[in-house]
Amino acid sequence: MKVFVFCGTALFLTLSCQSESKSNHTEVPIREKAVVNPNGDSELSLLMRSMTDFMEKSKGNLEKGLDIQDCPEEFVRLSTAKETEGIIRDRNHFNAYSDQWLSDLEKMCSSKGQEQVQAYEKLRVSCLNCHQSYCQGPIPKIQRLTVQNP
Ligand code: HEC
Repeated sequence: MKVFVFCGTALFLTLSCQSESKSNHTEVPIREKAVVNPNGDSELSLLMRSMTDFMEKSKGNLEKGLDIQDCPEEFVRLSTAKETEGIIRDRNHFNAYSDQWLSDLEKMCSSKGQEQVQAYEKLRVSCLNCHQSYCQGPIPKIQRLTVQNP
């Protein structure tokens, strides 16, 4: 399976695709988090950590019955952020997933209540869809982002 090989051949890639970030902030500029991987981090991995933080925070809110209020604008950079070399071979293929994700994000941010919970789950599946093609390390983590007791 080619995709798996891409994310797994270099040890550094494996680490970077599996690192777990624990921060609770959503509004920290992604540059400030550039300390996790000593080999250096791509713009795209930093953005991913920021997206993961946002999902964790959103999950927490939804489980408490609270709506998600603010959606970070930085995520539009999903389509253009520079990736770790060798991960994306076909930009058009990648952007089909990123466009879908951004459209799911917009839908979630413009909905409320139970509808927002459903939109959140759709967004999470959209994370999974891209990861099945591009970088399988974080999949268990994305699975754990599911909303419990919605
Ligand atoms: C359009 C494709 C795509 C979508 C959508 C996507 N990812 Fe990623 N993700 C990637 C790629 C590619 C990488 C590897 C980035 C690199 O190394 O440059 C990555 C890396 C990661 C990482 C590892 C970051 C690190 O520390 O290096 C995590 C965690 C992650 N994604 C979580 C998520 C979550 C959570 C979502 C949904 C909110 C998501 N991803 C949506 C493609 C995607």
